Amino acid sequence: MPWYYEMFDFLGEEYFTLLNREKIRKARREAGFILETLGLGPGRRVLDLCCGIGRHAIPLAKSGLAVTCFDHSRTLLEAAQREGIKAGVELQLVAGDMRELPWEEEFDAVINMWTSFGYLADDGEHCRVLENVYRVLKPGGKFLIDVPNRDWVARNFEAGREIREVGPVTEINEFGFDSLAGRDHIRTTYLKDGLERYFEHSCRLFTYQELAGLLAQAGLQVVKAYGSFDGRPVALDNKQLIILCRKPKVGGVS
Ligand SMILES: C[S@@+](CC[C@H](N)C(=O)[O-])C[C@H]1O[C@@H](n2cnc3c(N)ncnc32)[C@H](O)[C@@H]1O
Repeated sequence: MPWYYEMFDFLGEEYFTLLNREKIRKARREAGFILETLGLGPGRRVLDLCCGIGRHAIPLAKSGLAVTCFDHSRTLLEAAQREGIKAGVELQLVAGDMRELPWEEEFDAVINMWTSFGYLADDGEHCRVLENVYRVLKPGGKFLIDVPNRDWVARNFEAGREIREVGPVTEINEFGFDSLAGRDHIRTTYLKDGLERYFEHSCRLFTYQELAGLLAQAGLQVVKAYGSFDGRPVALDNKQLIILCRKPKVGGVS
């Protein structure tokens, strides 16, 4: 089983909420940015692709959008559902792999947040995900993707070991970076409830040019790129690479 199926499921809701209390707060602010950049009114349909515990899906649904949550981890989808009920919103939940999306021209927008892209074996597979995004969008629909900015990572990367405590979990990370493949490589040992689990995981990191190239290959047109959720430009000093793109309207005219 690939690490990206097993690891997130193993970590589960507790890890995500403990580690990410601050991230959950941030997601509420990020949802404001998402709403503004997508520019969608109440009732429009949004797919949160790789939604995790629904950090963004819930505030977006609260603002009136009809949100479908898609993730491979049933554990995290169940957490999203519980949190959604607590927040008084209804989410549609679908489990599956991002390479196989079961829709055709259904959504006004798709979002893919917090480094949920780049795990697969090669750029052929990454492009397959983007082709799926293209297919499930209505003509003129928008796609917002948020990944680390490889320029920033390469400039600030430090190989080595880091130990951190996340509630009941001890996490030991050893970091490596493969410049030829453009991927980080992380060996992580988790110690939880007397159990030890070891994962080797790796993520393709993209420069703006590389990701814009893949998006174009899948038929998506870049509208604007940002280096942060407060709208700063993509630059060496900005950690994030957030790209808003669009599926052209019929006949390729946007
Ligand atoms: C870093 S988390 C981000 C979650 C969420 N977007 C957020 O901002 O909190 C990555 C998510 O991608 C999901 N995932 C990983 N590989 C996947 C795949 N092949 N298909 C569908 N979901 C996948 C994981 O289960 C996990 O929930």
